[in-house]
Amino acid sequence: MTATIIDGKVFAAGLRARIGSEVARLKQEAAFTPGLAVVLVGEDPASQVYVRSKHKATVEAGMTSFEHRLPAETGQETLLRLIAQLNADAAVNGILVQLPLPKQIDEQAVLAAIDPAKDVDGFHVVNVGKLATGAPDALVPCTPLGCLMLLRDRLGSLSGLDAVVLGRSNIVGKPMAQLLIKDSCTVTVAHSRTRDLPDAVRNADIVVAAVGRPEMVPGDWIKPGAAVIDVGINRIQGADGKGRLVGDVDFASAREVAGAITPVPGGVGPMTIACLLANTLTASCLACGLPVPQL
Ligand code: GUN
Repeated sequence: MTATIIDGKVFAAGLRARIGSEVARLKQEAAFTPGLAVVLVGEDPASQVYVRSKHKATVEAGMTSFEHRLPAETGQETLLRLIAQLNADAAVNGILVQLPLPKQIDEQAVLAAIDPAKDVDGFHVVNVGKLATGAPDALVPCTPLGCLMLLRDRLGSLSGLDAVVLGRSNIVGKPMAQLLIKDSCTVTVAHSRTRDLPDAVRNADIVVAAVGRPEMVPGDWIKPGAAVIDVGINRIQGADGKGRLVGDVDFASAREVAGAITPVPGGVGPMTIACLLANTLTASCLACGLPVPQL
């Protein structure tokens, strides 16, 4: 079998266009423009790229983008004061503090200071708890939300399917497992201490790989016909000496076995920013007491 390629770039573009239409409708019908504030502390090059992309996508969707860049030596109190200002600002519907933060700042203290209603990353314990208990107004972390959308688009109902999530991070693995449970999958969360990883993967109709280890999952671990979602973005040195991006799954061998698979790049990656916009729209509608559009 040769797998269908799940084109995240195309899906994300469609999602962003639908969000843009909803934003235009909000502006016209409710005289209201959603606003997203992104906070970057320091000059981490990868974070700078992400923040620039988020700003561009926010403006393209018709939302207001507020950017706050603070020097690397910023103290925790200064950052907490900025978050308090953004919490109180009615023009700001979503707040994202780019991670990682410099080491003098306690990440958990910062995430806890964000108003849960504006927590478009879905990292606040209130939103983590809402997701775990199935509350309808949970703001869900962007990357796993994007993975879920791709799976539903490809498979329709996920009910009764066996899913394995590789990785147990707060940003991807744990919320991904919660979302799949909510969609009535039977979910295994596997990680570096799992005794028989190949066996866990072999039983799964859905594989979500989010471990950050280049090409760790070979095709012969995968159940024929399974849907494979690769969250990994790893830069490796190619045979030609040039750097290239690969996922956590060995794409060449996996595509011969899987039913559907996301490439790297161009799979999950583009979904994360699109889902950030979706969460900002959701948070904006909830804040105004307007119905949340089904995207
Ligand atoms: N750094 C890498 N990924 C993310 C993310 O999804 N959200 C935030 N805030 N920082 C990140």
